[in-house]
Amino acid sequence: MAYITTPIYYANAAPHIGSAYTTLAADVFARYWRNCKKEPTFFLTGTDEHGAKIAQSAEAEEKDPQLFVDAMADYFREAWQALDIKPDGFIRTSDPAHAAVVQTVLQKLYDAGHIYEGEYSGWYCVGCEEFKTETQMGPDFTCPIHLTPLKQVSESAYLFKLSAYKEKLVHLIESDQFKVQPETRKNEVLGFLRQDELRDVAISRQNVAWGIPLPWDSSHTIYVWVDALLNYYSASVPSGPDFGGARPIFPPTLQLIGKDILRFHAVTWPALLLAAELPLPKELFVHGYFTIDGHKMSKSLGNIITPQELIDRYGVDGARYVLLASTQFGVDGDVSWEQFDSLYNHHLANNIGNVVSRVQAMAVRYLEGQITLSAIDHTLIASYMSALEMADLSRGLQLIQNKFDAINSAIEQTKPWELAKSNDSQLPGLIGGWLGDIFTVGALLAPYMPDTAEKIVGIFGTSINQINYATLDKEIVGDARTIAPTEPLFPRLSV
Ligand code: MSP
Repeated sequence: MAYITTPIYYANAAPHIGSAYTTLAADVFARYWRNCKKEPTFFLTGTDEHGAKIAQSAEAEEKDPQLFVDAMADYFREAWQALDIKPDGFIRTSDPAHAAVVQTVLQKLYDAGHIYEGEYSGWYCVGCEEFKTETQMGPDFTCPIHLTPLKQVSESAYLFKLSAYKEKLVHLIESDQFKVQPETRKNEVLGFLRQDELRDVAISRQNVAWGIPLPWDSSHTIYVWVDALLNYYSASVPSGPDFGGARPIFPPTLQLIGKDILRFHAVTWPALLLAAELPLPKELFVHGYFTIDGHKMSKSLGNIITPQELIDRYGVDGARYVLLASTQFGVDGDVSWEQFDSLYNHHLANNIGNVVSRVQAMAVRYLEGQITLSAIDHTLIASYMSALEMADLSRGLQLIQNKFDAINSAIEQTKPWELAKSNDSQLPGLIGGWLGDIFTVGALLAPYMPDTAEKIVGIFGTSINQINYATLDKEIVGDARTIAPTEPLFPRLSV
């Protein structure tokens, strides 16, 4: 089984396009596995609901923390549904079934001597829920991400012997047994592991009431990051959260995260798993962060874009497209409404939408809708599959765009409207070839734009579920089909 995860998002504010980006990327891989590879797949996402940050947000709204996170979790569920993102499980850390698994794991680690009682002092950022090391701090003890002063904390805590795993982690990451992608992020973790002193980490907090109590000392709650990281595991345990019967098989095949939470996922998480004698995830893919018009997206700057705003302007598949196409998967990028508009108009309205309706119209006008499909581009299919195997989501999309560009230029060059005038015998072959290509790229679009893909393959009287991607060529070449005109896929925006 393929098992893919996203970070669980802090349930302190409604989702924005940053959290939507990771979740959407995971949806693309999950759909690729389900539809194109026909592999049993479990896609997990959810919300991170404990800790000081959540408690403070609930308090600011004078709400009980549980009621507060209940409402927030619904916002996330609804946002993903609106974007046609289809997780197989939505986990919430305030679910008692998750809490029980977390307690069992920690008790096991404690009994085996991996956890000891001590003191922890350091500089804490509530926004990150993280003690910052010297190299992670901004000037004058500030958080470089939130630009707020760090809080000096000195308290009694239980600590996990993270320092014992330094060499082992370096080896596992270096050898790709635990694969961290892209290469730059792998090097970043290795650099950090080699240079910084790897301190034991606090796994409990003494003064944070909103959390899971430590099973052997209820005067402490479990540190929110330990609670949160274990979601990827608790989801797989039979006594864990209920997802209506289905459950993933541990360990994850692919974990997607943003670069901000790399250390937790590439150091703390695998070390906890090693101590608990559990297998490590196969691959961690770290994508970049996007800024809006050059600024960090934040409540205080008032520049937050919500997924619904994108849907209102571009439709569901349009919103998915502009988000996925605006930056290179794996690196940072800047986005803006102008850029989204331009992607929509150039790539969707003028290219994909226009090519489909042009070729459809030619088939109807010149061939009375009666065509025989030909010309399946094997190289395209193979390159697409290998791009997605390598988690290169941007390349998969680029290949599809290139194909539409190529059909467009071929139309301009061969001028079918002139061939039609002279009843040229090349015409059915040309149109059949373009339609074969359109069918192929339509099928390949399914992970990215599910509804558009259905509409395109629907022109040929089939649906995505019926397509066998392993034999895509054999399915359609030589088939006689009747083509009818349909609604335009992407009406042009007036900007
Ligand atoms: N709750 C923790 C994660 C725990 S996982 C065991 C957390 N939550 S978060 O709500 O802050 O979400 C962080 C994730 O959202 C990032 O890692 C990233 O995947 C995504 N993004 C949030 N803002 C983003 C951008 N501006 N750009 C791209 N991705 C962004 O950290």
